This record gives sequence, C-alpha cells and structure tokens, in this order.
Amino acid sequence: MSDLGFGIVGTGFIAGILADAITRAPGAHLAAVSSRSLAKAQDFVEGRSGVAAVEGLETLLARADVAAVYVAIPTAAKEAVTLAAIAAGKHVLVDKPLPDAEAVRRMTQAAAEKGVLFMDATHFSHHPRTATIRAESAARIGRPRSLNTTFYFPFDDRENIRFDPAQEPMGAVGDMAWYSMRAVVEYLRPAGALTKVSVVPERDPATGAVIRLSGVLGFESGESATLDVGYTAGTAIMDLSLLGTAGMITMDDFVLDWHDSFPFDHPDTPVGFVHRSGMAHRSAFDFVETPSDLPQEVRMIRAFADAVASEAAEDWGAYSKASLETQTLLDAIWRACSA
Ligand SMILES: NC(=O)c1ccc[n+]([C@@H]2O[C@H](COP(=O)([O-])OP(=O)(O)OC[C@H]3O[C@@H](n4cnc5c(N)ncnc54)[C@H](OP(=O)(O)O)[C@@H]3O)[C@@H](O)[C@H]2O)c1
Repeated sequence: MSDLGFGIVGTGFIAGILADAITRAPGAHLAAVSSRSLAKAQDFVEGRSGVAAVEGLETLLARADVAAVYVAIPTAAKEAVTLAAIAAGKHVLVDKPLPDAEAVRRMTQAAAEKGVLFMDATHFSHHPRTATIRAESAARIGRPRSLNTTFYFPFDDRENIRFDPAQEPMGAVGDMAWYSMRAVVEYLRPAGALTKVSVVPERDPATGAVIRLSGVLGFESGESATLDVGYTAGTAIMDLSLLGTAGMITMDDFVLDWHDSFPFDHPDTPVGFVHRSGMAHRSAFDFVETPSDLPQEVRMIRAFADAVASEAAEDWGAYSKASLETQTLLDAIWRACSA
C-alpha cells in the first residue's frame, strides 16, 4: 500500500479534525503542518509524533515528504494557496466552500494540466450511504423529483471567520448550503439546467454575515430543491428528504452521521436511510442500514490516497466535476441572495 505524505495549511478547527483523519487513514500519513506563525504550527503538532511544524506556505511546499496538501483556511485565501500547491506539483484537498465557480475552473484546470488530483473536502460524499442511495434510488423511489434539505447548528461566535464577510464572503450560505447543493449533485441529479432560484436570507445586524437562508431552486427538467440552512435554530438539524415518482428516502443526519462523525459518536445509532413507498404506515417504513468501516472523513482521506495511488488521472475528473457543479449551484443562491 502507498503511504501518501500530507501537509496541512492552517491550524484551526477543521485542520485538527483532518489531522486526526489523515493519521487514521490507510495509505496516508501526516508529514507536516504549516502556519503563518511557527509557534502556532508547533502547538498544533504537539503530541503528533513525526509531524514537522513549519512557518509559511513556501516552506511546506518545498518539502519532499509532502506529496499532498490539505487546504484548511478561510475561503478568501483558498485559491491562492491551492494554485501555489498545484504549481509545486502537490495533490490538493481543499475544504469547502470554494470562492466561486470561476475559481473552481482555474484550480481544477491547473490541477489537470499539472497532473495532480483536486478534491474538495465534503465528507458525506465518501460515506457508503451516499453510494448506496445513488445505486438504489431508481429501484426504490423511481425518478427523483424533489429534494428538501435542512442543515442548522447553533452558532453565534462573532469572532469566528463565519461572521467575517472578508474571510467567508458567503457566511452560512457557503458554510451550510454547500451541503444542500452537494446533496442536489449526489442525489437529485437534475438532467436540465437551473432555471429558477428564490431565497430569503437573514443577516447578522452587527457583521452583515448571512446567518440563515431559506430557498427554492427549479430545474429545466422539472426537478426542484428546497433548502433551509443556518446557525439560528438553537439545535442541530440535518434533515434530508428525496422524493421520487415511486417513493421517498429520508434521513436526519445527512451531513454528519450520528453514528461516528467528528461531532457525534453514538455507536448504538446505526447509519442509513428510511425508505417508504405506497400507503405504508410508519411501522412499515424500511430502515436501510449502510454501515461504514471508518468515519466518513477518514474514508475521504483513504479515497484521496487511493486515487493518487491508482494514477488513473482520467477518473480524477469526477471529483472536479462534483466541485464545480456544487459551487455553480451555490453561486446561483449567492447571486439571488445579493440581488
Ligand atoms: N469539511 C468540513 O466539515 C468543514 C468543517 C469546518 C470548517 N470547514 C471549512 O474550513 C475552512 C476553515 O474553517 P475553520 O473552522 O477551521 O476556521 P479556523 O478555525 O478559523 O481556522 C482557519 C485557519 O486558517 C489559517 N488562516 C487564517 N487566515 C489565513 C489567511 N489569510 N491565509 C492563510 N491561512 C489563514 C489560520 O491558521 P494559521 O493562523 O496557523 O495560519 C487559521 O487557524 C472554512 O472555509 C470552513 O467552511 C469545513
């Protein structure tokens, strides 16, 4: 098995989660972490044996033991860092959201030209539940026609980047609606172009950051999607329903499964989805279990390392395509938000 050396750019919240995931993932190891301040990098690697702490991106990119870079920094800074990593010949895993679809095109094109892998860090795409629904939805629910997602977690720290439009320009739209739009890409898979977008955003009066949004999207081919996302509901909500022509799939943890994802650890709560069709009473709803050998963020790192090891660069385009489709839908929501 290959052993892909990762370097992380950033020492914040999600960098810590992914450092653990990289350490656990078969086929990968954490080689180095860079910060704009050496002291922060040193604090970050404390207790992580064999991981180098370095100051600055250039130092990280110069390291021969770093073959892949995980970009875990505010969205406004992601493109420059990603392009520099690609230019240095590193494979890149970039956290969501991305600045806009044009930036995604520039980054994915640069990666393709350099012969390195580009992937966005959407964990749920790598859970076996996602592949199962994609494979079985036609047989279970017919043609998917509408997708409804709600994603909230309680959050009100105005010092955080999510409340700073200079660092996270789309606020809760980028942070939360990204997952709603990835669910459209993974599950609804509309055949036609986006033709309608209508949104109701709510902004934080102190910072101007978007903190909540409800919206509806319509596609030329007749599919529709609704979303409701934000920080303001006072509870974690991760509901998804996918309605087809012959049934419905639902789950209440579509972003971060209750069973074993970074904020949740409930071994007795199985992961899966509820399937119902016809006039079934609740007692007849079917729970389809989709167990996973590893937490979804660890599977993401394993998938990344496997893709690099396979050297099947022609397959890498699927990851870029998913990023671009997700970001294009997100941009449309953002344009409607700002109109
Ligand atoms: N996929 C997921 O599940 C997930 C979960 C949470 C967050 N995210 C995304 O990941 C990104 C980071 O979120 P976070 O919660 O980890 O933020 P955070 O805790 O504020 O950490 C961001 C880190 O980026 C570095 N940084 C800040 N400004 C920078 C700049 N201008 N240039 C380069 N580096 C800079 C800082 O590290 P140094 O000071 O050490 O340089 C900082 O610690 C966000 O876009 C967020 O949406 C994804």
